[in-house]
Amino acid sequence: MNLDQLVEVANAMVAPGKGILAADESSSTIKKRFDAIKVESTEENRRDYREMLFRTETAMREHISGVILFDETIRQKAKDGTPLVKLIEAAGAIPGIKVDAGAKPLAGCPGETITEGLDGLRERLKEYYGLGARFAKWRAVIDIADGVPTWTSVKANAHALARYAALCQEANIVPIVEPEVLMDGDHDIQRCADVTEWVLKTVYEELYEQRVVLEGTVLKPNMIVPGKKSAKQASVEEVAERTVMVLERCVPVAVPGIAYLSGGQSDELATAHLDAMNRIGGFPWSMTFSYGRALQAAPQKAWGGKKENVSAAQAAFAHRAKMNGLASLGQWEKSLEKAA
Ligand code: 13P
Repeated sequence: MNLDQLVEVANAMVAPGKGILAADESSSTIKKRFDAIKVESTEENRRDYREMLFRTETAMREHISGVILFDETIRQKAKDGTPLVKLIEAAGAIPGIKVDAGAKPLAGCPGETITEGLDGLRERLKEYYGLGARFAKWRAVIDIADGVPTWTSVKANAHALARYAALCQEANIVPIVEPEVLMDGDHDIQRCADVTEWVLKTVYEELYEQRVVLEGTVLKPNMIVPGKKSAKQASVEEVAERTVMVLERCVPVAVPGIAYLSGGQSDELATAHLDAMNRIGGFPWSMTFSYGRALQAAPQKAWGGKKENVSAAQAAFAHRAKMNGLASLGQWEKSLEKAA
């Protein structure tokens, strides 16, 4: 393990004013996104769409530190034959790869899942490193419902995350550790805070037990928000204060940075929350974004699969990247959205 390299990459992933583009939708997820804009999910369309994002020069250069890719994408070439990985590197961003095999039903725990993908991971990581990946992502999914999550699922998911992270570091790949507490459901914000605190405490214990070097990791957590169906929604300030409080209780100072998932928040709200946290400031890690939907909803809508819409879609992506870059510095203003 080359710790200096891991630390350097981890810090570059959370560099000031920059964040991560999560473009690692699995085949079934990207199909859902394309269905919504009436685009057929063919390999060529997926390539054209992602090529369009990676060729959004200024956004990529100024606001995107790294891109999480899906297995298909890390092997794909742009229309002119350039590997997509090379486009990302040319823009000064770091290619990364989703390595989990998805969340599958957890035996004995109805309604809960365990993320699979550890078998053969050492060999796959080696291959991905050769293809240019310098960081990876593994998403554990924790739902909230009556009697859920169980300790069984919290423990099993944290353990798998730690096993994954240790294998990544052995392969000189920075692990993004993503324990996502879902915002589906009607629970209140306190319940989200309690479950997230439990999950994060468990994750850091498991990372320690599996000998993961925290300086060479990035945490990708959910924010502390009420369930989507909760009757009582929270203000931007409350979400920011509670998220910072939970993370301060759980995340060791040795972790270089935290890159949030958007998890189904609207794109502007995800930006507002990140900005509000960075305005509080004073915490020991940088806090930025690793958004999928909150960065891509606008460009997908603007694109609609049509060549003539490419520049409008790139402008939409560039705008969201810039807004989130500002939010990562606590310098975003709502008026900038209106002006655009
Ligand atoms: P969202 O920002 O759409 O939640 O996606 C981020 C991600 O990578 C989830 O694993």
